[in-house]
Formats: sequence, C-alpha cells, structure tokens
Amino acid sequence: VSTNNRIPFVDLVSQHSFLSKEIEEAIGRVLTGGGFTLGGNVQKFEEEFASFCGVDYAIGVGSGTDALHLALRALGVGPGDEVITVPNTFIATVEAIIACGARPVFVDIAEDTHLMDVSQIESAITKKTKAIIPVHLYGQPADMEAICEIAAEHGLKVIEDACQAHGASIDDIKTGCFGDAACFSFYPSKNLGGVGDGGIVVTNNGEISERVERLRNHGESGKHNHVEPGFCSRLHGIQAAVLSVKLGQLDRWNKARRYNASIYDSLLRDTPVVTPFCKDSNYHVYHLYVIRAEDRDELREHLASQNVETGIHYPVPIHLQAALKEYGYKKGDFPVAERVADEILSLPMFPELKEPDIERVANEIISFLSSTSRAA
Ligand SMILES: Cc1ncc(COP(=O)(O)O)c(C=O)c1O
Repeated sequence: VSTNNRIPFVDLVSQHSFLSKEIEEAIGRVLTGGGFTLGGNVQKFEEEFASFCGVDYAIGVGSGTDALHLALRALGVGPGDEVITVPNTFIATVEAIIACGARPVFVDIAEDTHLMDVSQIESAITKKTKAIIPVHLYGQPADMEAICEIAAEHGLKVIEDACQAHGASIDDIKTGCFGDAACFSFYPSKNLGGVGDGGIVVTNNGEISERVERLRNHGESGKHNHVEPGFCSRLHGIQAAVLSVKLGQLDRWNKARRYNASIYDSLLRDTPVVTPFCKDSNYHVYHLYVIRAEDRDELREHLASQNVETGIHYPVPIHLQAALKEYGYKKGDFPVAERVADEILSLPMFPELKEPDIERVANEIISFLSSTSRAA
C-alpha cells in the first residue's frame, strides 16, 4: 500500500475553505431576508451571469438537465421532431431531447478534439430535424461557426450544451453567445458550481427567455394565470447567492485550470499518451483534463494504487446505453466515439490542484508507461 497522500479528482472542500466566510454570510442573508425560490437573489444572479456571458437574458432553473429540456421546449421541439447531438456526452443532453418527446440523432465526433464532427451533420439532417445541440465537452467550445452556418441553411435551432464550459470562448466570444439558447449546469463540481443542483438558460431572444421563464414555474404568466402546462424547476435563492459569490472567482479559477493543464501538457508531451488538443481560436476552460492511453484500464489501476483518483467521461457512449435501446442504435454506429471511450482518462483537475501533485500524477503515468515499455 502506498504511503503517498491521496490526490483527489476534484476538491470542493479546499475551494469552499477559501470563500467560506463570504459564502456563509451570503447564505445567512438569504435565510434572514427571504427569497428562497426565485426572488431577488435569483434575479441578481441572473443579471450577473447574463452580463458575464455577454447575453441579454438568463433564466435560472433547477439543473443543467432542466435548462436543456426547457430550452428545447421553448424552441418548439416536441413529438415527431429529431434533434442532433453527439454520443460522447453526459446522458442529460439526450434525456432532455427524449423528455420533449423528440428523437435523439447522433453524429460522430472528431478524433482530435472529441467534439461534434461538423462534416457529418448534413447527412444526419432529415425533414424531421428541428435542432442541433453541440456539446462544449470538457470545457472546449464546439465549432460554432460551422454549426450555426449549417443550422441557418436548414432552418434549424441551435442549443449549446455549455454545462462543462462556463467562461470558455471562441475568438473572445463566450460560450452562450452562439446558439439560439445555451444551457449551463451549476452541479457542485462544475467550473461554476453551487451547493446543490442548479442550472441556467441564456439567450438573446426575448421570446425564448419569456417562455423558459414560464415553463420553469408551472407555465405561469402573471399570478395564477397558467397559459401552458409547465414544470417546477426554479433556481433556489441559496444557490443563487452562493453562485453570485463564486462568479467573482470564475475567471481566476479558469486561469488556474488552464495553468494546471499546461503543466500536464508539458510533462506528458514526449510520452505515448495523447494530451488534449485545443484549437488556437478556443479558450478551453478544462472542466476536465482528458488524456488518451492505450492501456487505459491498467493505467487507471496503477494510478489508483498510487492514491491518484481519476475518472472516465464517459465510458459508454450514449447510443449504446440501455436507456436508448428503443432507438435501435448499435455498436459500430459511431466508431470514433466508441474507440475514444475505451482510451480516455480524466486526470485530477481543479483550480487549487498543486504543482507538485500534478508532477506526481505525470511521473506515475511515465513510470507506468516505462514499466509496460511503451515509453517514447
Ligand atoms: C455535458 C453535460 N450536459 C448536461 C449536464 C446536466 O447538468 P445537471 O447535472 O446540472 O443536470 C451535465 C452535467 O452534469 C453535463 O456535463
């Protein structure tokens, strides 16, 4: 058994200890001042987050999943429609499509970025296609220029799944600005996370904003006036208050993540593992730092034996999950996503991760590679 200290995959406790006074005061103000669901705390955070993204509207909801679901509904997606997305995402992207009664249609991913392969979109479009959901996976924006161009040509809506990409940008334009709407999650481990579930839809379209605002609160438009059946998916005051405090740190945290990624990059450069590829135009915010390794499972076991926690995002592409069986997808349908799923490994990544710990992770990877004589 190793005597090395544990290197966690994420460490929310150290993040909290840095801000504990401010956060606890903010929560205290909610408890004494009220505004537990929606209300002033939520409105304040919505304005702050809209301004952070550079959009006109932000509507706080109960989770990132709900953000996607309600945004799709607000854009008119329903039974009989098809929505195009990628198979290598968290299942929530696809659940949101299914929750609207629409059919999820997948396109494969690019081998280098692991993002939607835009060259495959057109052949997936049918008469039923209503929308495209690109996923800014791991914190790197998808190719929004190409996606929006194809969508415009075919009259399709675009919803950015930005649940892993708060503050990421393309040529200095932030995620959230590209699609008809964009959705963020505030799950605690996200780049901007609450102390429980939360999410938000952002848009520049007033009608979409109004519709999401209605849908999140029982279809209500004015007190006791329910204009359509809606949902109960409101952002809570305590989450909003905490998120307001944390939003002030987001740029700094993203910079720290990028710095940590650059150290991993340089230490692993001359090894057979593949480090993340980031396009020059992209500001990647490294929600996850994902390498590719041939002997991924053995490498993961070795790291675990040395007290280094890792993750796999995601081990089973969504089209092969049992939950999707009625859609008739099978192994071999999306070969790049399937191949990548067997090789990816997410290394410890959070803003407070210390340089010596990054070095220890890299050294353990290098020592594993040389023990299996795969070193360059
Ligand atoms: C890509 C992606 N989409 C959607 C979600 C759903 O967000 P939530 O867990 O807040 O519902 C997540 C995060 O969990 C995610 O990573």
